[in-house]
Amino acid sequence: MPITWNEKEGIFHLYNNKISYLIQIVHGKYPAHLYWGKRVLVMQPSSILQFKGRAFSPTTEPGKPAFSLDTLPQEYPASGNGDFRTPAYQFRTAVGSTVTEFVYDSHEIIQGKPRLMGLPQVYIEDESEAETLIITLVDSMLGVGMNLHYTIYRDLDVITRSVSFEHHGTQKVEILKCMSMSVDFHQSNWDWLHLYGTWGRERHIERKSLTHGIQSISSSRGASSHQHNPFVALLSKNADEEQGEVYGFSLVYSGNFQASIEVDLFQTTRLSIGINPFNFQWRLNPGDVFLTPEAIMVFSSEGLGGMSRTYHKLLRTRVCRGVYRDKTRPILINNWEATYFQFNEKKLKEIADAGKELGIELFVLDDGWFGHRDNDKTSLGDWKVYQKKLPNGLAGLANYVTKKGMKFGLWVEPEMVSPDSDLYRKHPDWCLHVPGRNRTLSRNQLILDLSRADVCDYIIETLTSIFTSALISYVKWDMNRNMTEVGSSGLPPERQQETAHRYMLGLYRILETLTTRFPHILFESCSGGGGRFDPGMLYYMPQTWTSDDTDAVERLKIQYGTSIVYPAITMGAHVSDVPNHQVGRVTPLTMRCHVAMAANFGFELNIDKLSSHDKQVVTEQIKLYHQIKDLVCFGDLFRLLSPFEGTVTAWMYVAPNKEKAVVFYYKTLAEPNPPFMRLKLSGLHPLLKYRIDEGLNEYYGDELMKIGIRLPLIKQDYASFIFQLKVS
Ligand code: DGJ
Repeated sequence: MPITWNEKEGIFHLYNNKISYLIQIVHGKYPAHLYWGKRVLVMQPSSILQFKGRAFSPTTEPGKPAFSLDTLPQEYPASGNGDFRTPAYQFRTAVGSTVTEFVYDSHEIIQGKPRLMGLPQVYIEDESEAETLIITLVDSMLGVGMNLHYTIYRDLDVITRSVSFEHHGTQKVEILKCMSMSVDFHQSNWDWLHLYGTWGRERHIERKSLTHGIQSISSSRGASSHQHNPFVALLSKNADEEQGEVYGFSLVYSGNFQASIEVDLFQTTRLSIGINPFNFQWRLNPGDVFLTPEAIMVFSSEGLGGMSRTYHKLLRTRVCRGVYRDKTRPILINNWEATYFQFNEKKLKEIADAGKELGIELFVLDDGWFGHRDNDKTSLGDWKVYQKKLPNGLAGLANYVTKKGMKFGLWVEPEMVSPDSDLYRKHPDWCLHVPGRNRTLSRNQLILDLSRADVCDYIIETLTSIFTSALISYVKWDMNRNMTEVGSSGLPPERQQETAHRYMLGLYRILETLTTRFPHILFESCSGGGGRFDPGMLYYMPQTWTSDDTDAVERLKIQYGTSIVYPAITMGAHVSDVPNHQVGRVTPLTMRCHVAMAANFGFELNIDKLSSHDKQVVTEQIKLYHQIKDLVCFGDLFRLLSPFEGTVTAWMYVAPNKEKAVVFYYKTLAEPNPPFMRLKLSGLHPLLKYRIDEGLNEYYGDELMKIGIRLPLIKQDYASFIFQLKVS
């Protein structure tokens, strides 16, 4: 997987066995984009770029009328000196101008991948896994250097990019915009796809044709958000789950982001992703360095499914960390939907007892165990046990649960403060706010100012004492509102617009410290469900609570959409009560189990109140989950039928050696006089023979994928089946 430099042509070629990425330094100054896609074996590189003078495109260099930055496909374009398209970066200089002139200065090719200090990132375990190109551009008048980092991986069709700025000059400068990557494709005949939603309806899929002009998604909520995930893809028109070219772009960041795609009138497509420039500004003083978050760029010539599998492997093995990275996760019971805030020790013990009897491995105590929290109006910040509910403290309950042979887990929401709390009364300036302005509440709470080091230190020490106060094996880290009045009492006026990004850096420091201090704890991130389901959080916490919507039908869309980027092992999924608390729908317990066990399986209901029949169902489903969990967690996902296209959904996980697979099939609505249906499988070995559910017949993978398996005729809404395939 080398990176080569053709000095004569000024061309870098980043490649592995399957992909190539080509950059040319044009006129010795401007990094231009030549190509990215399937591996190119032989080429005449100098023939790739074409030049032609275009009316109203300024002439960048005297005597070269055909050359204009406005029409050059670029790698990291500026604004103000001839390119009228979307810039990748913008500075304000000491004279108040936004015109800069960064040109190629030097480059370095490094074995491995340098670490990005203080940020989540894709990591390597061995230098031989990756190679990195750093192209340095300099604006000599400002004395600022800009390093474009590109890492190519040996075994994955992935390039990661990030940018660092180093100030060696003397003037004050401000960064107004600094995307993590930008790329100009030589065509625009594509669809784009992104994941949108809201609370309870996260990561639905939208696919649209690109149009001329700018199309973008973003978050300015101080979190990656329920509304848009930090991910977009470009798809060739013929791309589906199995075929066609797909380019995925994802940001390893949990705060404000923007992904923007501009199609110009010469059919060039410019795509960038990075920190949202809206309300962002960063003072770069002489001697300072600024790092952008990292972007993950995936190329697939095997459709959307191929792109997802690459993301899954990368996120699971080179973004997620810790002892749980390569382990299936314990089946849990969480008390939230069972009790909300109304519980006492006796009730919790009853839930734990019933859970243990049915084979559940982890009991999680959710919100309401601290301060005097009987509702969501109070006590965030006062992380002391609520004696009325837990007279024997956390340790008493944790000991009880642990003695039963279960693990004990705890919910926290450390980034928040309730106005009704001792913490707020003592430190009213510790929350995000703007002096003299209203402090807007959301879920009755304010956000602690994590751009302040003292606030972060306080959180670290408070949580350290909680996590050491009892036998805690799991932590659910919640975050239940978005940012308003984004200002900090710890920053001078000229740095106020750094607050949101400094908050993220503070949060990452807290998470790095705590996950290092408590390596045995399994952390699950949460933000009112999946409001911060992003690669940044996964770097610290290897799973995320996918959505507060636990309805089995709604979950099909949420989990299917989430799987576009994120592997099943990163998704929390629970069986809850019916009628469902979010949508009022009544679905069978078996279907609820079949949906939840397609990810990290858990329960969130009054399990002690289940009928003996339902308890029997749960016991059987838990047994089934143990049979399939390795495939769900570590297998390759193949999506077969989309819940966005009808009333049937199917997906399957295939073992890396192709000897085992598990197929999930769900039919939400019955139809009268139904036709015979077959389900075509995917990802199997065509020449291996498989037995389905220990049945008598054997089938070649080839026939299962081309002709498909027979589906039963079903006279029932909300039907679901799980088939296990094994090489015989
Ligand atoms: C939002 C989470 O998504 C829920 O699962 C639950 O933990 C509540 N917060 C508790 O307040």
